[in-house]
Amino acid sequence: MILPIVAYGDPVLKRKCGPIEKGHTGLGQLIENMYETMYNANGVGLAAPQIGESIRLFIVDASALADEEENQELLDFRKVFINAEMLEEEGEDWKFNEGCLSIPEIREEIDRNPFIRIKYYDKEFNLHEDRFSGIQARIIQHEYDHIEGTLFVDHLNPLKRRLLKRKLTDISKGKIEVDYKMKFPLVKKRTA
Ligand code: NI
Repeated sequence: MILPIVAYGDPVLKRKCGPIEKGHTGLGQLIENMYETMYNANGVGLAAPQIGESIRLFIVDASALADEEENQELLDFRKVFINAEMLEEEGEDWKFNEGCLSIPEIREEIDRNPFIRIKYYDKEFNLHEDRFSGIQARIIQHEYDHIEGTLFVDHLNPLKRRLLKRKLTDISKGKIEVDYKMKFPLVKKRTA
């Protein structure tokens, strides 16, 4: 089932998410719905708060980026992260043009470290501790931010953010063309 994606301005996106218990009711179905929702919107990552659930869950699938980025490793990069905990981020900052399904039509160059070490559970609740680099790390960092209540625009300097303010308010009000289902915090009902 395709779920509406929560738009910028909804308080759920600013909240730090809580841990998930093993045996969480409906978790498998929720993950399946999140994949369907993400693919429908042509995203490469989606975090639970983006569909209104304040729990430490995010999914990634960067296979669609493999050709564009000339990185065949991305073909297998499909993963579920439960109760993730970032252990280390290191290396010299690099810029990458980020976007977010909750903030359509805005893309900005964001600085982040290129190497990470992260601990997480997969959907069978097996514990993993892995290292990622480059675009894989980037996607994880973006999604990990979501479960910590941070958005990519929060990384911009105050001037850049001020320049985007109007556009961001328009997104919250639903004054935006978007070809997937969204839930806008400043409108009661969407007239499609
Ligand atoms: Ni995002």
